[in-house]
Amino acid sequence: MVNKITVVGAGNVGATAAQRIAEKELARTVVMVDVAEGIPQGKGLDQWESAPIEMFDSRVIGSNGYDESTGSDIVVITAGIARKPGMSRDDLLNTNAGIVKSVAEQVAKTSPNAIIIVVSNPLDVMCYAAMKASGFPRERVIGMAGVLDTARYRSFLAMELDVSVRDIQAMVLGGHGDTMVPLISYTTVSGIPITQLMAKDKLDAIVDRARNGGAEIVKFLKTGSAYYAPSSGAVQMVEAIVNDQKRILPCSAWLQGEYGMKDVYLGVPIKLGRKGMEQIIEVSLTADEKAALEKSAQAVREPMAVVKI
Ligand code: LAC
Repeated sequence: MVNKITVVGAGNVGATAAQRIAEKELARTVVMVDVAEGIPQGKGLDQWESAPIEMFDSRVIGSNGYDESTGSDIVVITAGIARKPGMSRDDLLNTNAGIVKSVAEQVAKTSPNAIIIVVSNPLDVMCYAAMKASGFPRERVIGMAGVLDTARYRSFLAMELDVSVRDIQAMVLGGHGDTMVPLISYTTVSGIPITQLMAKDKLDAIVDRARNGGAEIVKFLKTGSAYYAPSSGAVQMVEAIVNDQKRILPCSAWLQGEYGMKDVYLGVPIKLGRKGMEQIIEVSLTADEKAALEKSAQAVREPMAVVKI
C-alpha cells in the first residue's frame, strides 16, 4: 500500500477506479478530485461508508481542489468529456487537451514525484499533453489503453472458445483507436497459439470487435462510454506500480527510438513497477504487424500535430 493515490475526474471511470483502488487497499488515502461541486465529496463519502461492509481501510475523500491530493504517489487522470454515439475519440481533442493540461499542471505543483496514469481520450495525445504540461519524465507519464483493449480482446476470445479468461494471453499494441494492433502472433491459450484453436475468419471477426469495443459500449449506453473495464485497466496498472510487480503490460509510452519511432505516444509492452515505466520491451513483429503499428502511430501523430496545449 502507498500513502496516497489521487483520481482526477469523479465521473464513471474515475469513481469506479477510486472504488476499486480502495477495495484493493492500494493506498491509505484515495482522493477523488473533480470540478463539479459536491460530486467527488458525495461519491467519496458514499464509498467510504461501504468500507465497514467491504472491509477496507483505505480512506476515500473527495475534493474540488488539489490541496487534499498533495504528495500523491500516483495520480490517475480520467478528467474530460466522454464520447457520445457517432463521435470518435479524436472529436474530444481540444476540449480534453485543455482539461488534461490544467490537471497536469496542478499535479506537477502539488505532487511533483507522482506517477501519472492517463485515461482521458484521445488517449495517446492526452498522454503527450500530460507529459508536456507536467514536465515529468516519460517514466512517470503512462497511458492506459492497451490493458483495456487487450482485456476486451481476451474476453471475446474466451467467449468464443468457451475457456477461462485466465488462460488467454494476448497483447494489443498501437494507439487507442480504430488502428490498434492486436498481435495474433502473440495470442495464446495456455501457451497454445490461437491459430491452432480458431479459424482465421473467426479470429479476424474478434480482432475487429476488439478494435471497436469502445464504440460497441457507447452505442449501448448512448449517454456515455465504457467505465467498468476502463477503470479495471487503470487499476491493474496502479496495482503493478504500488506492489512493484514488474508486470509486462501494453501501455501507451513515449517512444524515443523504440520500434523505430520517436516522439510519439504509442501502446507498446512495458515493464511496470514502483518507478513507473521501468523498461520498454521490443518484440519482433511480422511485416504486417510492423506496417499496422506504423499506421497506428500516424493516426496519433496527426492529432498531436494540431492539438492546442
Ligand atoms: C473505451 C473508451 C473509454 O475504449 O476509450 O471504452
